Amino acid sequence: MIRVTVPATSANLGPGFDCIGMALDISNIIEVEEYGAGGLHIELLEGENSSIPMDDSNLIYRSMLSLFDTVGYRPKGIRIRQINNIPMAMGLGSSAACIAGGIVAANHIAGNPLTFQELIDLSSNLDGHPDNVLPALVGGIAVGCIQDKRVYYSKINAPKDMCLALITPKYKLLTVKARSVLPEKISLEDSVFNVSRASLLVASLLNGNIDNLSIAMDDRMHQPYRKGLIPGFDFIREKAIECGGKGSFLSGAGPIIIAMVHHKDKCTFEAKMQRWLLELEDSWTLRWANINDEGIKTTIY
Ligand code: HSE
Repeated sequence: MIRVTVPATSANLGPGFDCIGMALDISNIIEVEEYGAGGLHIELLEGENSSIPMDDSNLIYRSMLSLFDTVGYRPKGIRIRQINNIPMAMGLGSSAACIAGGIVAANHIAGNPLTFQELIDLSSNLDGHPDNVLPALVGGIAVGCIQDKRVYYSKINAPKDMCLALITPKYKLLTVKARSVLPEKISLEDSVFNVSRASLLVASLLNGNIDNLSIAMDDRMHQPYRKGLIPGFDFIREKAIECGGKGSFLSGAGPIIIAMVHHKDKCTFEAKMQRWLLELEDSWTLRWANINDEGIKTTIY
């Protein structure tokens, strides 16, 4: 049996739409084994269970089948146990965790025919963009692009003294809906806006210029369109900076909004921000997370 611990991820980090993502210290655990008696057996040990398919439409299983098809392996049967700690449809990469976890587990079952790079390539092509599965696999903050089905990437060693305020409403938002409001084309001016912010973001993270983040995490490619689905979005981002956050952004497709906060400012940030959240509808809450620098972990039993 293989146990895969796969982290939640936050994609985009503002301007890095579909190319920059970060792993968090919230993880799903997936235990998988080949089952000699045949069939598919899926068990959910913990987590939201209402919308998790227990049949062959299960995303972990479908991702495993992609790997088996790629390498020509035919398992007798498969048993999957899931512990889901990553909330679904909140912008924390729960689908990407299923894809990356399923691919890594299937590779083990098939006798490790694919390299780690090939696992990144297959997972990213399945998800359609690398900004969730890539940091889930490699950890930290990672930048990647897909060319000819291969992912070219680089990992940034994330700043150690920053923590993440996950500002969370009560409702969910499906990625498909959050993508449906995006325009097909954006202007040259907005493209330059995003390229300059994304470049400044990467350079500032690499060099520790944390004071640049409030500007570097701005975006004109997705957040302005998605905020119509998230009442209070501008208010929360503005107050997050006013309360001492260094930068704030929509996590992936939302609806969670993340503020990057220096550890030393954590208590004051929380006290002030909680007061502002009370002014909003949708019962927004705040929980803390840290950046996960390790990425996916496997244990073989
Ligand atoms: N980059 C993706 C998006 C992440 O913003 O739609 C969510 O899947």
